[in-house]
Parts: sequence; C-alpha cells; structure tokens
Amino acid sequence: MYLNKETIADIKQSTNIVDIIGEVVSLTKSGRNYLGLCPFHKEKTPSFNVLEDKQFYHCFGCGRSGDVFKFLEDYRQITFAESASVLAERLGMSLQVPSNQLAQVRQESPHQKLFEINQDAERFYQAVLKTTKIGELARQYLYSRGITDEVIEEFHIGLAPAEPDYLYQSLSKKFDETTVMNSGLFNLSERSNRFYDAFQNRIIFPLRDENGRVIGFSGRIWQESVSDDQQPQAKYKNTRATAIFNKSYELYHLDKAKAVMAKTHEVYLMEGFMDVIAAHRAGIDNAVASMGTALTPEHVNHLKKFTKKVIVTYDGDKAGQNAIAKSLELLGDFTVDIVRLPEQMDPDEYLQKNSPEELEKLLRQSRISQVEFLMHYLLPENSDNLQAEIDYVDRMAALIVQTPSITAQNSYITKVADLLPDFDYFQVEQAVNNQRLLVRGQMSQAANQTQAAQTVMVELPVSKQVSALRRAENQLFHRMLNHAYVFNDYRMRSDFHFETAELQTLFELLNQEGELDSFILSGLDNDVQSAYYAVLEERLPEEVTDGELQELDRQISRLLAQQEIRKQGKRVRETTSLGDQDGALLALEALIAQKRNLE
Ligand code: UTP
Ligand code: MN
Repeated sequence: MYLNKETIADIKQSTNIVDIIGEVVSLTKSGRNYLGLCPFHKEKTPSFNVLEDKQFYHCFGCGRSGDVFKFLEDYRQITFAESASVLAERLGMSLQVPSNQLAQVRQESPHQKLFEINQDAERFYQAVLKTTKIGELARQYLYSRGITDEVIEEFHIGLAPAEPDYLYQSLSKKFDETTVMNSGLFNLSERSNRFYDAFQNRIIFPLRDENGRVIGFSGRIWQESVSDDQQPQAKYKNTRATAIFNKSYELYHLDKAKAVMAKTHEVYLMEGFMDVIAAHRAGIDNAVASMGTALTPEHVNHLKKFTKKVIVTYDGDKAGQNAIAKSLELLGDFTVDIVRLPEQMDPDEYLQKNSPEELEKLLRQSRISQVEFLMHYLLPENSDNLQAEIDYVDRMAALIVQTPSITAQNSYITKVADLLPDFDYFQVEQAVNNQRLLVRGQMSQAANQTQAAQTVMVELPVSKQVSALRRAENQLFHRMLNHAYVFNDYRMRSDFHFETAELQTLFELLNQEGELDSFILSGLDNDVQSAYYAVLEERLPEEVTDGELQELDRQISRLLAQQEIRKQGKRVRETTSLGDQDGALLALEALIAQKRNLE
C-alpha cells in the first residue's frame, strides 16, 4: 500500500487516538473526554485533553493540539510519513513510504559539500589550537578566561593560524573550486587572483545548525595586532552569509540547547558566545545567543519550534536594557522573564568575579517579569513632568491587568506607586480598575449593544481586541466546517475574507480541496494547524440558531472598526505630539466620523 490520501483516511478511521495516546500518557475519563498530564510540558495538574469523538488532543496548558498523526510526530520526533507507517504497522498494513518522506536529517542535502568543508575546517582549527606553538599561547589566553580543556572540547573551540592561506592549502586539494568559493571560508583577492583564509589568527567558535552540523565560524581576536598599519579589527568576525549560514535565523548552541528545552520548556537568550559558554560552566545548557546581530523575527520564529518561554539574559548596561525592550516587542507570543545582571556585567564577566554556583543561582532565581522590567525601563526620568507620569501609570495599568494573578497585580500596583512621588497606591489601583472594567466591558459586549457603543470610546488593550475578533472568526469558521451551506454561502461572497491569517489560509484551502483532512493538515505550518484545532474546539450548539451568523458578522465588523479607530487614535496622538495641528485635526475628524458610524 502506498502513502496517499485514501490510506491516511483509512488509517485514521481504524485507529482510536485514545488507545495510541493511552499507551504513553495515563488518561482518565472525564465527561466525554479523557484527561491526563501533558507529555509536552511540565505540569502537576492535568490539562491535556483527548477528545474521543473528534479524535484529537488539546493541551490547555501549552496549547499543543493535533490528531493522532501529529501526536506521534511530536511525541516521537518523527515525520508525518513515519507516523503514518507506525500506525499502519499496528493495523497489520504494510505501507510503502517514499524515501524522500522519511526523516529529513537522513536526506542528502544539496549542500552536502558545504557541510563537509565546514566540518573539515572545524577539525583543522581544533588541531591548530591543540598541537601548535601558537595554539599553546592561545590556550593560555582561553585558560585565563576560565575556559578549560573540557570546555574547549565541548564547544569545539579552535584557532585560525596567523598565516594567509594555511586552511586553503589544506582543504583545496580535497574540495572543488565551487565549494571552496561558496564556503565563506576564503576570500578571493582580486589583485592576485588567489584565495586567502577568511579567518587569520583568531580564536574560532564553530557555529552549528539545530541538527549539529557546522555551518560557519566566528573568530575572536586574542592578541594585539602584530602589524600596526592595519585598520582596527572587529572583536568578532563571522563567516559571511552562505547557502547554509544565515545569521538572522541561526542561534548559537541551539543544537545542544534544544534537548534541554524539551525538558525545561524554557530558553535563556543571551548576547554573546562567551555568555552561553559561561552558562554551560554553571551547569545551564538551555542557553542560546544570536550571532553578531540583534534578535530578528526569523530568530523568534526559529525559537517557536522549541519553546514558549524565553528568559532574556542581556548585558546589564544601557545598551543591553534597550536591546531587552526591543526583543520584548518581537517576543509577543512568548512568556518572557528577564534576568537582571548587576553593575553593567554580562554573564561571562559575572562568572569571572563569582563562582559557577553563584551564576547558576543568578540565572535561575534573579528573574523578573516583563511587567517589572518595563516598570523600571519606562519610568519617566523627570519626576516634575506630571503628564508623563500619568501616561506611564496608564501604560503600566494596561500591562498589569494582563497578569493572571490578582496577588501579582496588587504587588505591581504597590511597586508602581512606590516609584512615583506623586501617586499613592489607590490612584494606581484606580487606573488598573479602569482597565479591568474595559476588559470586562469587552467581554459582555456581544450581549449588550449599548454598552458596546460606550466601550468603543475608550481604548482596549490590543491583545483583548485581537482575541475577541479571533473568537468570533473561530466560531464562524466552526460553522463553515460543520455546515456545508454556511461555507457555501461565504465562499460565494466576493468581499469576504478572514482577518486572522491562519483562518484565511484554511478557508482558501477548504475552497480548493473541498475538505481538510489529516493529509492536507500535516503539510501546513504549526500555527495554521493549531488554528484549525482551536476552531474544532469551539463549543457551539449543534444547530445554527436564527440570526447567529448575522450577529457574528456584525460583531466582526464592529471589532474591525474598533481596530481602525485605535489606529486613528494613535495617529491623532502622534500628529499632536509632532505639533502638526492640521494633520491632527484631520485625523480627529476621521476618528469622530468612524465612531458615529459605529453608533
Ligand atoms: P560583546 O561585545 O558583548 O562580546 O558582543 P562578548 O560576548 O562579551 O565577548 P567577550 O567576552 O568580549 O569575548 C556580543 C556578541 O556580539 C557579536 C558576537 O556574537 C558577540 O558574542 N559581536 C561582537 C560581533 O559579531 N562582532 C563584534 O565585533 C563584537
Ligand atoms: Mn563578555
């Protein structure tokens, strides 16, 4: 039998997800579902649900969900095709899986030669550090920084010799010219038309992809430059971008960190190689660093594959604090804690002055929440500026209400009040209460139109607005999936689209394929897959009630309009603060017109 749509449907039909998951998770029946401890994140109270009638699972703790194929993929870290063949075998079917659908790691990469040349270069650099005279000196430098032989081994640290083309001499015989040229390890001199080693006289840190393959290097200077007519050299230099090295995506040490992340479900995000190495010396291996760039959206997406919690561990100086604030903007989908490093130090410098145990303690215990970080970071410097303080309190209040624990909310209120000479606890609490009302107003808004008109006048925290819109769209899509006539109806409307990108993707796919089955789903991004299961999970009465769809439509357009108003409001504030009176007036008029429309 071959792996195709029909076989997949067959396998799914003949398999009960409860049996498969039941083999590895102890499940208890609770109502119509089964409940157990989630195998994908650490928890003490069960939030992992298996829905027998719908044949999928969902964890309310970590948000993972999927069908039986997805479960095996994630649980055993195998491909979709492999999970299909595991299940087929259980059923006594023998399934022919095309070899290109087996685990990707086993696949021959088109860049095989580039991986090989990097691997060879790593060995060369290691040998230079271990066996040469200059290597002896470089090791002294490393020892002086606390890097032992054990650490040198663990991180495969090496040395590029202080010669123009030793590496080239050693590798050019074995590799063809294209590989040499594309490896990023050599620079072609235009004048002499010869290759030179890209790294000369630098301590070498090999960079690996998440599967542990060497994809490039970073070299650090360690001796005073010998010839003094040279330009001042950059402290670290990385391999240039190649077909296998993209520094906006790769993270140092991810190959080792990912195994630890699978257990601890969190990752330390650091600034430098030496910081990650310091963490290792303190017994912490779930640490990664970006390599010579600030954190990018690509890095963030890469991390999403492995964890939902990031502990930002940047240097304790002003630049580090700014970098933390920037990274918080990118890490919106993660739970974020921040480690506060004392007196302008980075983790490596902290370890120079303290024991590994003390660094471990700092990394594990001196964490503050995002709210607490922003509380200090955003605090207006000039305490005479009352308006700035009021704005600050409002901003903090919006963040504080998003904290789930009321006890934590109260302690934040106290802290904010303590930071501001002109405010007491009750004033800050008042601001927080206003935010609480807004959130509540938003929740009952669907039921209460007049109240909705009022809540429009004030700003809601963005996340709440998004979630209300998402909820309404989820319900609509749920109806489409279960009632063909609803889907048909919307499919015909040329002006209809989902605002939520994942839902729009699913909607278009459904239109193309006529149905969404495991086979189709398995080829989609995780975000889209989760969106699908979130939709299935919406609890709605079996039958579509009178006026239900019209009400959903109304709700969605209202929420979209609110979003637009929020943008307008922001424009008004921006133009006012820029002193652009005419612009502000125009924006204000647009805003008022829109609010009228809503009423
Ligand atoms: P830092 O300047 O904080 O270096 O740069 P560091 O990690 O503390 O290194 P040591 O302790 O001086 O050896 C942080 C990171 O920024 C990148 C490197 O990835 C470095 O680890 N960087 C820094 C560069 O790419 N080029 C540079 O010239 C400097
Ligand atoms: Mn350092």
